[in-house]
Amino acid sequence: MSCRFRIDGRETTAPLGATLFDVAESLDVRVPTSCQKQGKCRECLVEIEAGDELLTPRAPQEEHLLPRFRLSCRARFARPGLVRGHTMRRGALRIEEDARGLDGNGAAPLEPRFQRHGRRLLRDGEEVGRIDGPLLGLAVDLGTTTVVLRLEDLESGRPVATQSFENPQRFGGSDIMARIRYDTDHKGRLLQRVLLGYLGHAIEALAGDPGPIVEMVVVGNPTMRDLLFGLDVHSIGQLPYRSSTEHQLLAGERSTTSLEVSAPRLGLPLHPQARVYGLPLVGSHVGADAAACLLATGLADRDGVSVCMDIGTNTEIFIGNRQRILAASCPAGPAFEGGGVQCGVPGLDGAIEGIRLGDDGTAETRLIGDGPPTGICGSGLVELLSELMRSGRMNSRGRYTDDEHQFVVDPAHRIVLTESDINELAQAKGANAAGLRIVADSFGAKLSQIERFYLAGGFGRHLSMAAARRIGLIPALPDDRIVQVGNAALEGASMVLRSAAVRQSLEQLVRRVEHVALETHPDFFDHFVDGCQFGPLEG
Ligand code: FES
Repeated sequence: MSCRFRIDGRETTAPLGATLFDVAESLDVRVPTSCQKQGKCRECLVEIEAGDELLTPRAPQEEHLLPRFRLSCRARFARPGLVRGHTMRRGALRIEEDARGLDGNGAAPLEPRFQRHGRRLLRDGEEVGRIDGPLLGLAVDLGTTTVVLRLEDLESGRPVATQSFENPQRFGGSDIMARIRYDTDHKGRLLQRVLLGYLGHAIEALAGDPGPIVEMVVVGNPTMRDLLFGLDVHSIGQLPYRSSTEHQLLAGERSTTSLEVSAPRLGLPLHPQARVYGLPLVGSHVGADAAACLLATGLADRDGVSVCMDIGTNTEIFIGNRQRILAASCPAGPAFEGGGVQCGVPGLDGAIEGIRLGDDGTAETRLIGDGPPTGICGSGLVELLSELMRSGRMNSRGRYTDDEHQFVVDPAHRIVLTESDINELAQAKGANAAGLRIVADSFGAKLSQIERFYLAGGFGRHLSMAAARRIGLIPALPDDRIVQVGNAALEGASMVLRSAAVRQSLEQLVRRVEHVALETHPDFFDHFVDGCQFGPLEG
């Protein structure tokens, strides 16, 4: 029997003693590296799905990794058999002609912080250097699971292209608390270094010549944002869950929680005078990504009650109007981003994003990008749950009504949904529902009084509203009150990139937001238990 390696859907035989990296390369699978296989950059991550015991023991350079991850330039084939794995997944590079998604978010005048007079590069009106070619900026949404970059032309205000990739920090854990523990327990800022390496590769792929990129605006939850900037995140994991920037703000040691450093300091391949700006935090676990959503939805400018729910590993919820805004952060876990679900994957290429069941139970699936299918992402999972309910194959407690404990979606690619997967999704849904009910109660509004419900997050724009309503992921509101905004955090980052005035107003806006602590709320548990049932969310 020979050694075989199946990676990113491609398979070949492998000589004993070969590294995973070399065999992946022979299959034309691109593995990120900045050290050319020297064991130094720690970027050549492969997540092993099966066959780890067939590989050589861990090298000292791999000791920092969770068990299922290996450095592909260190791990070698040691015994015959099949090893299966994948590199960190990527989304295709997409050229965007005009991707302005939300009403009015392109309304602010185009007045970026960096401008050009001839070849002179100005920052806030002061000359800081020279520039040739276009004047570009980057908006970046640093999600716990997925990182999305959008390149913008700062002179026309038009998006140029987007790129996305799975957050490689998963080698240190899939949720925020695990990453905080990891960063606290390991020296050397490994989470920051590896992410910066991946960001550098993505920027080069996106821009070709990154020289004209003069600013990068970053949004993310407090942990993701602070890790990127190299701050100590320990305090975010301890009650009252505050970033060190928030503690310093409260102690009068700084005037804002926003962050700014020069791009060379982070080692990013941008213009030598480029700056990296992290949006201010709303407070506690409610971060810069939530602040960006608040901006993009325009929730603070309307009279009627609006809600914005950004569903992710941590779900952020805002409710409010022109007078008052409340916010909460809900540790829903990564299930709706594919984490903790056997065949769950992030919403990147190869993911099944839509599912319809025929009368005979055959699944008709819709894929992101080209095949083969790698698993099911959040929107696909929501549609699958809804279809299982509609067809009577699953009850409101998330149990299959036949004697099976799993439903086979794609037999050829062994893609299934087990009852234990459903349990993970039920708990994520329960946490989101509990958060929404408590925030609405605290505001003094019934769910039925919500005039506009913005659904944001990794679901993109393709999630079926009917499916989300049927399982109770969103309130039972009519279609005309629901706005599916896709990545509102990225839209908010773009708005800040394009307008210095918007940046100033956001600094004021975050101070108006009142924080609701869910984790200590006496009603959380009861709402959570109710929310774990599948069925319409009414009230
Ligand atoms: S290629 Fe750099 S550590 Fe493996």
